[in-house]
Amino acid sequence: MSRMNDFPRYNINEDYRWNYEHAPEPPDVEVPDFPGEWSFCGLPVGSPLGMPAGPLLNGRWILYYATLGFDVLTYKTVRSQPRECYPLPNLQPVICDQLTGDERELPATDEMNGSWAVSFGMPSAAPEVWRRDIEQTRDRLPKEKILSVSVVGTEQPDGTPDDLADDYAQCAKWAVESGADAVETNFSCPNVCTSDGQLYQSSQQAAIVAERVRDAIGEEVPYIVKIGHVTEEIPAAMFIESLCPFINGIAMTNSVAATVKQGDSLLFDGAQRGICGDATRTASVKQTELFSRLIAHRGLNIALIGVGGVSNADHVRQYLNAGADHVQIASAAMVDPEVALQIRREWNL
Ligand SMILES: Cc1cc2nc3c(=O)[nH]c(=O)nc-3n(C[C@H](O)[C@H](O)[C@H](O)COP(=O)(O)O)c2cc1C
Repeated sequence: MSRMNDFPRYNINEDYRWNYEHAPEPPDVEVPDFPGEWSFCGLPVGSPLGMPAGPLLNGRWILYYATLGFDVLTYKTVRSQPRECYPLPNLQPVICDQLTGDERELPATDEMNGSWAVSFGMPSAAPEVWRRDIEQTRDRLPKEKILSVSVVGTEQPDGTPDDLADDYAQCAKWAVESGADAVETNFSCPNVCTSDGQLYQSSQQAAIVAERVRDAIGEEVPYIVKIGHVTEEIPAAMFIESLCPFINGIAMTNSVAATVKQGDSLLFDGAQRGICGDATRTASVKQTELFSRLIAHRGLNIALIGVGGVSNADHVRQYLNAGADHVQIASAAMVDPEVALQIRREWNL
C-alpha cells in the first residue's frame, strides 16, 4: 500500500486526541457507481463497501470517508464512560506474511507495508459527547448511507456478567436513540485483557449480552456482533447457535493477535496486540467460509461482514465468494483514503 494521492489521512505520529480533533474536511470527488444490488443486514445500500469500527473516531471522520466511496460507516467503539487511549505507538507497522494465529514476536518496522499492530485500548469520549455527535452526524450524512455504531461494555472490578451485559445494552440503546441505523457490539479486542475484549470466546456470556442488547434496541434495528479470530468448527457452531435468536450479522475478523519485537525487547510490555491489515486476509477469508457454511447448513438468516486485509477489488471478490454479504476496510483506508474509489474503478473495468 503506497501513498498514491493527497487526501489527508490519520497521522500515526500524533496521538489519538490530536487525530480526533484534526478530522479532514470532506472533499468534492466523483464516486463511480458500484453495479448490483446490495444490502447491509437487510438495509438497502449502494455497494458492499464499508468501514469497520476504528478509523472513524467521530462524526467528522465519518463525513469525510462517506464522500470517498464507502456506504456503511461504523462509528468507533464507544463506552458508557470516558476512557483515554493508550500511549504512542498506537499503530506500529510490522513485518510478516499472512498470519495463522500461531505467530509470536513479529518484528516491528518503521515503514508501513500493509500490516500493523493496533494499540488503542478502545478509548471513548463521554456518552454525552458521542451521543450528541452521532445525532448531528446522522443529520448531516446523506440518507442513503448507513451509520452503524460500535459499542462495548466496560467491566467493573466487582461487576458480574449481568452488569457487563447491562452496560453493553445501555450503550446500544443510547446509540439507537441518537439515530444509529445499526448497532455493533465489539466482542473482541486483543488489546484489553478484561472479559469485554474476549466475549467471542464464550458463547454463553456472549448470548447473555446479545439478548440484553436486543431487548434494549427492539426488533427492528440491525444488530451485528464483531468477533475475533476463530479457526475451529465446534466453537464457531456453538457461537452461531447461541447468538442466532438475537443478531442480524457477524463481522469478522477483528484482528489476529501477536506480540511485537523491536530490537531485543518486546513492545507493549510483552502483551499481545491485534495485528490488522494485509496479513490477516487469508485467515479472515477462511473464517468467513467456515461461518458461511455453518450458517447455510442451519438455514439461518445471518449476514456476514468480511473484515481484514482488503485493499483491492480482488480482495472484495474473495470475501464475497467466501460468503460475505458486505466487506469493510480499515487499515488500507487509513493508509490510502482513495482505496474505495480505486476499488470501484477496478470493479467497473
Ligand atoms: C486504528 C484502528 C482502530 C481500531 N479500533 C477498533 C475498535 O474500536 N473496535 C473494533 O471493533 N475494531 C477496531 N479495529 C479493528 C478493525 O475494525 C478491523 O477489524 C481490523 O482493522 C481489520 O481490518 P483491516 O485489515 O482492514 O484493518 C481497529 C483497527 C484499526 C486499524
